[in-house]
Amino acid sequence: MIKLTKFEINNYRSCLKSNIDLNQSLMCLIGINGAGKTNILNGLLLLKKLKESYRIPGTKQKNLSGSLTEISLDFKLDEYTIKVKGTLRYETDDRNNDEVLDSILKFNFFDITGSKKWIEIPLELFKYIHEIKFKENDFILREYFKLPDLVESQINALYSIRDFFNNISYYSASQFSDPSKCPISFELDENKSYRSNRFNFHHEKFLNDLYIKYKNNKNEFNKFISTVNQEGIGIINNISFSEYDMPSSSYEVKSGGKIRKIERNRQLIIPYVTIDGVELSPNQLSEGTFKTLALIFYIITDENELLLIEEPEVCVHHGLLNSIISLISVQSKKKQIIISTHSDFVLDRLSPENLLIVTKNSQKGTVAKPLDKALSKNDYKALKSYLQETGNLGEYWKEGGLDHE
Ligand SMILES: Nc1ncnc2c1ncn2[C@@H]1O[C@H](COP(=O)(O)OP(=O)(O)OP(=O)(O)O)[C@@H](O)[C@H]1O
Ligand SMILES: [Mg+2]
Repeated sequence: MIKLTKFEINNYRSCLKSNIDLNQSLMCLIGINGAGKTNILNGLLLLKKLKESYRIPGTKQKNLSGSLTEISLDFKLDEYTIKVKGTLRYETDDRNNDEVLDSILKFNFFDITGSKKWIEIPLELFKYIHEIKFKENDFILREYFKLPDLVESQINALYSIRDFFNNISYYSASQFSDPSKCPISFELDENKSYRSNRFNFHHEKFLNDLYIKYKNNKNEFNKFISTVNQEGIGIINNISFSEYDMPSSSYEVKSGGKIRKIERNRQLIIPYVTIDGVELSPNQLSEGTFKTLALIFYIITDENELLLIEEPEVCVHHGLLNSIISLISVQSKKKQIIISTHSDFVLDRLSPENLLIVTKNSQKGTVAKPLDKALSKNDYKALKSYLQETGNLGEYWKEGGLDHE
């Protein structure tokens, strides 16, 4: 399993010079409003957006607008550490989402090759990486990408890092606000793919992701249902789908007046959520039910390698939060998870090693420190012995024990 162990980001929103150690596979960001927790998660999400900036070597940059940010990453892959540093040019849209316009990434494979040289890897190579078998296609590397020969473990490392970048996912309860915006049906085209609508993108995508699991992976779908129905936390009874074929035809007229009939076979999918024996459309769910369903679905079925969860406590009844944090802990054995929280209840379920204290200072902007570095030696010792006795981490936090500077 590949792991991101260090993340540094400079000149990105409030992260002027932010260094984040990711020692555990589950890390939790805490800190006051505006400290920069969401910015750290969005900074990590830039890695997923790198693929938007793929371009063929030698072609011009998309444009020169946007802001420049520098990143530096350490990955642990088997026994190797692979370092990546780079510059990204990005633009932020009217919904405060970033698009990466352009990027330059350099890789250091010292652990694999013993060479301290940084090699610039054009991201376009990521598209072809699965075709580049050791030696057979070194032509592509040398002639097309102007890269030196890479050994097999370097190619494999690039392959894993490419997948890691692509397989980052982000959950925030705010994506699922106001379930009344959720469509009550959706359409699939002939290829069974689905077209999204930007304005209720997340609600609709959730329904579609649910449906895909229901069709393609019944085991996982059933695992999800048994987590949320009476066997588990009991917020619903079941989720089912009706499928209707919608054949339609249209005509295409060719020069000379010939007519060609085009048959289309789209499908209409209607989801139902059963609660207390009553079938409801997704837009009739309470906001907390909708958000909790989406959160649990993405925690347990998401096959991604890095899952970012913004404040899992939002809209979740405290009785259920326990189960959600347990699910997050269990899943963090399989993939890296980073959460942010304002809930002392969440902290009670974590260990000091899982915490990053986020603060903002005038020179570095957002700073994230592991607890043993954020607290003085004595304070950290005091916390450890407090926890060994009867205390819990959330209580300690509420009493101001984790405040520093
Ligand atoms: N696109 C942006 N460019 C510059 N600054 C931004 C941008 N988006 C947000 N900020 C600012 O960055 C700072 C940190 O915001 P962020 O949302 O990361 O805080 P947070 O720690 O998540 O706070 P909260 O606990 O309230 O969610 C805030 O001052 C915010 O206004
Ligand atoms: Mg935030």
